[in-house]
Amino acid sequence: MKIAIGNDHIGFELKPALLEVLKERNIEVIDVGTTNSSRTDYPNYGEKVGNLVASSEADLGIVICGTGVGIGLAATKVNGIRACTCSEPYTAQLSRQHNNSNVLAMGSRVVGKELAKMILTCWLDAEFEGGRHGGRVELLSEIEKRQCQ
Ligand code: RB5
Repeated sequence: MKIAIGNDHIGFELKPALLEVLKERNIEVIDVGTTNSSRTDYPNYGEKVGNLVASSEADLGIVICGTGVGIGLAATKVNGIRACTCSEPYTAQLSRQHNNSNVLAMGSRVVGKELAKMILTCWLDAEFEGGRHGGRVELLSEIEKRQCQ
């Protein structure tokens, strides 16, 4: 399992806590930055993570900014990406089981470190259920295809 992680300068604060979880699970990490708290722009990091997941260079992605919204939107602009911004474990779990989310977005101004670790753990532990949810996820892909025409 390989996970791409990206963040802006605000999300940078939360990243070490999430890297701990990934290390404990022996998950390989591709860190696209940013690597310090100098002001930067979240779309660049969301796009990088999205591209790595869409190209299968990474199995899943994690993106972090202040709210998790901007960087999650950026990742979701990449075709094939289903990024979900989560601030509690239930949504994180269901976003995998029902929506087959492939990028988890979180906000370092919204969730504390321990809650963020719990959210990530629930997301990693959950599996896509397929079945009726598979058809719905396929409908999401069809929206993308129509946009490209
Ligand atoms: C940066 O100030 C902030 O806008 C960003 O981290 C994020 O919250 C955007 O959605």
